[in-house]
Amino acid sequence: MPHFRPDLEGLVTYVPGRPIEEVAREIGMSPDDIVKLASNESPEGPFPGVVEAIQEAAQSSNRYPDSDVYDLTNAVAEHVGVDPDQLWFGAGSTGLLGSIALSLGGPATSAVYAWPSFVMYRIISRWAATQAIEIPLDSSHVHDLDAMAASITPNTTVVYVCNPNNPSGTVVSGDRLEEFIDSVPDSALVVIDEAYHDFVADPSYRSMLTRAPQQPNMVVLRTFSKIYGLASHRVGYAVGNAELLQRLRRTQAPFTVTSVAQAAALASLGNTDELRRRAEANAAGRRQLLGALDERDLARADSQTNFVYFSLGDDSQELAREFTSRGVIIRPMSGGWVRVTVGTEPENQRFLEALDSVMETITA
Ligand SMILES: Cc1ncc(COP(=O)(O)O)c(C=O)c1O
Repeated sequence: MPHFRPDLEGLVTYVPGRPIEEVAREIGMSPDDIVKLASNESPEGPFPGVVEAIQEAAQSSNRYPDSDVYDLTNAVAEHVGVDPDQLWFGAGSTGLLGSIALSLGGPATSAVYAWPSFVMYRIISRWAATQAIEIPLDSSHVHDLDAMAASITPNTTVVYVCNPNNPSGTVVSGDRLEEFIDSVPDSALVVIDEAYHDFVADPSYRSMLTRAPQQPNMVVLRTFSKIYGLASHRVGYAVGNAELLQRLRRTQAPFTVTSVAQAAALASLGNTDELRRRAEANAAGRRQLLGALDERDLARADSQTNFVYFSLGDDSQELAREFTSRGVIIRPMSGGWVRVTVGTEPENQRFLEALDSVMETITA
């Protein structure tokens, strides 16, 4: 056996939401009757015109993609109002997170983030041999920024703030976040992960995207995987100052964003009507789910995202199995808490029927 890094022993790799086909085989149901609400994906496909752009780009599959992501970079720069050299693209924001951790990690460094939060922060910290400092969310499932600030030491090289947070769906206010950013020493990079930015309705929330290029130690992450319905194509980007991004690029493999992915993201931009329609549809679905959880008196967080987070006060894994056996795939968290993605209206209805049935089973 080769000598693997001993510090990676016991590392639990990312557990994705269970695929529809696998669950269909397991419970003997048609895949068409299974509802997957486990991965915070869009319940709709790509934006209008995007599949055609994908088909077109696929014709050049024999060529390597543009490693500089030139067209998409320019289009996004215009779209969000930054300079092209203030953007950095990767294979999803997950790809960028990996490069960030590798660039800033190493022995005798630490990374600070909330918990529970996006599980990749924990995994990439292990990859990078960085000590992970996990700060529990407060009693409202919101980042405890005071405790996070207090845990930053001279060895801390990266701080992740997931806003809105996955899995709780909660946001920290723009004012509070700006104060926190001001308090972080320049020796640590602040990563604001805004994967769910497009779904937020809370007026106290503010994106940090336009501040990022002005700040010497901050990047904001965005993704095409959520509201744009392109999770399969793996496109995400970071916004920050040009020199910072140049340094972070050193741990990124070449050609990580495929030509098809670049074309798909490019064709998705600019359709603000479709973006608004999808955000409104999600908000309506979220209201439906949160209202139903409240009617059933279930403890839950205040979601600003395309998922809801609530407790059934039982074993989370067992709960997920109960839902799966009813053809509804959800995401178990821990301590009886589960996360459920907002689906289409009929999908949400299927989930609520399953919820009532599971609640009957666990109270029986
Ligand atoms: C908070 C957060 N950041 C990043 C991602 C990853 O997105 P991508 O598909 O761009 O890698 C996710 C995906 O679930 C997420 O929840």
